Amino acid sequence: MTNTSVLIAGAGPSGLALALALLQNGMSVRVIDKGETHKVGQKGCGIQPRILELYHFMGVLPDIQKKGGLICPVIHYLPNGETKTLSMVTKGEVTPDKPCSEPLLLGQDRHEQILREHLAKYRCEVELGTELVSFEQFADHVVSRVIKTHDGQAVEETIESRWLVGAEGAHSVVRKSLGLTFLGETRQENMVVGDIKIIKPQLDEFWHSYGNATTKSVVIRPSEDPAANKYQFFAMGPQLDMTTVASGREAFIKEFYAVSGRTDIEFGELVWISNFRPNIRMVDKFGSGRAFVAGDAAHVHSPTGGQGLNSGIQDSINLAWKLALVDKGLAAPTLLDTYTQERIPVIAAMLNKTTELHNKTFTQGVASYDAWKRGPELYQFGVNYRGSPIIVDEAGTPESLDPYRSGDGGNLRAGDRAPDASGLVGEKTRLFDIFSTSYHTVLIFSGADPDVTEILDLLKAYPVGSLKSVVILPQDAAPPAVDGSSADFVLTDGEGHAYKHYNGVVVVRPDGMIGALVSGVDGLKQYFKGIFL
Ligand SMILES: Cc1cc2nc3c(=O)[nH]c(=O)nc-3n(C[C@H](O)[C@H](O)[C@H](O)COP(=O)(O)OP(=O)(O)OC[C@H]3O[C@@H](n4cnc5c(N)ncnc54)[C@H](O)[C@@H]3O)c2cc1C
Ligand SMILES: *[C@@H]1O[C@H](CO)[C@@H](O)[C@H](O)[C@H]1NC(C)=O
Ligand SMILES: *[C@@H]1O[C@H](CO)[C@@H](O)[C@H](O)[C@H]1NC(C)=O
Ligand SMILES: *[C@@H]1O[C@H](CO)[C@@H](O)[C@H](O)[C@H]1NC(C)=O
Repeated sequence: MTNTSVLIAGAGPSGLALALALLQNGMSVRVIDKGETHKVGQKGCGIQPRILELYHFMGVLPDIQKKGGLICPVIHYLPNGETKTLSMVTKGEVTPDKPCSEPLLLGQDRHEQILREHLAKYRCEVELGTELVSFEQFADHVVSRVIKTHDGQAVEETIESRWLVGAEGAHSVVRKSLGLTFLGETRQENMVVGDIKIIKPQLDEFWHSYGNATTKSVVIRPSEDPAANKYQFFAMGPQLDMTTVASGREAFIKEFYAVSGRTDIEFGELVWISNFRPNIRMVDKFGSGRAFVAGDAAHVHSPTGGQGLNSGIQDSINLAWKLALVDKGLAAPTLLDTYTQERIPVIAAMLNKTTELHNKTFTQGVASYDAWKRGPELYQFGVNYRGSPIIVDEAGTPESLDPYRSGDGGNLRAGDRAPDASGLVGEKTRLFDIFSTSYHTVLIFSGADPDVTEILDLLKAYPVGSLKSVVILPQDAAPPAVDGSSADFVLTDGEGHAYKHYNGVVVVRPDGMIGALVSGVDGLKQYFKGIFL
């Protein structure tokens, strides 16, 4: 049998995040990309706070924070000569349960580079110039046909792997070959996007927005890297001749001057430019047999709202741990069905949300406060899998909840994001330093069955390395409250933050979501029966 467990086609953010999460789960991975060089362009440049949390679990966050910047306010130039300034981002508060309070700005090319650097630690390098053209599934493996292009020479090869994931963007070969539907619509709004250098003046403190998207508008914004003098621009509107504007540097500059009147701006090199009409589509299924899709291969939408790249990474983190357990023979292949079951409702809500913002932009114009406001519901804290068949909640089936609620308030139920808790005393000081994309975490609180030893014994019956147990004693516990000596961690809730959200026994999945809220051994058995063989 082949020793490549997963072949990933496409080295965009979805494919790279998937590769890293799989490697952290001990899988062997190959990542191919048809591009002969790495792509340039800031494109999906907003990283939502929930993704920053997932990156914390994966050890990527410090590098993202080092290179990322904050999203600055937008200044609208109105027809009457006045200006209107609006802060797009509602900065949340850093709280003990939410350490990441606002999105970070990071060009997609620099973001991808960070992920590649992390892959390199596992000796995984993206195989460039390697295009997936077709594949065939067998009982226990997949054979993929690829075309390798180097220095103008094309060579055909086959790659054998146990699984195949198509993270190759909107034109996904895997999606088409599997015959997954990709229903939706192509909108008629014209858009041109790209990156360009500006020689002078410096426009570093704001996004600058000119014109009106109901007719024609241009927006230009600084990148997070002040030394680069690189700006991302958007031109859009029904009256925009997108083919002409995207035809080259001079055409773009001419249009920019015409719409903005800012002929004082001296442009440098055009880094890249592209024109498109937004597509709003999604698959009916995220895979079949041994082949899956993730990211733009599974869903495309309007760039308004900055959800695409982030949703792709959430797809990958949802899939990675399931694929790893099934590949290792620890879980039944049916666990992989829950990838579709859990992601479909979230993506449907995401398309609706981004379309709503898109509609506002093009009907009310770019100067509409309403259309530009990016509320905390876009932070993806509210993404939940309450309807999933593998979650267990002894308080009853959780009522379904819009993934685009803000993620604040309401009762914590199985299927929700597991909140952080700082102020722990012991070997670890916060829950997020324990959670990992490569194992389940079982949190045991004082509301659990009194026999903690029995719970810990049960957990030992599950595959080695597949979970960590954490006994959390109340703030005022008089030691020795419980015998937690055989737990991986025994911590005290020094500031009471953990007990504010949690009680009983809580299973946190490798994707940071609550798999089970139960009281003891019976509930745990029920949950893990749905996961492990
Ligand atoms: C202008 C613009 C602005 C955007 N702004 C945001 C934003 O603010 N926030 C946000 O979240 N999202 C944003 N997006 C969307 C975001 O860029 C995409 O959602 C994201 O790139 C999807 O990542 P992916 O990894 O799924 O696919 P992609 O990034 O499309 O990567 C797919 C990769 O697969 C490769 N490939 C294609 N076919 C094959 C093949 N047959 N074999 C091998 N390799 C192949 C491609 O070369 C590519 O490298 C924006 C998009 C655009 C265009
Ligand atoms: C989609 O958005 C519309 C308009 O904002 C809203 O009325 C509707 O309830 C949403 N539907 C879903 C399924 O989220
Ligand atoms: C967006 O606008 C389109 C066309 O005007 C409409 O059909 C659709 O229902 C709107 N969607 C949302 C979510 O507002
Ligand atoms: C943009 O156009 C819309 C529709 O014509 C109009 O309602 C709105 O006031 C305009 N905004 C500005 C700032 O001109």
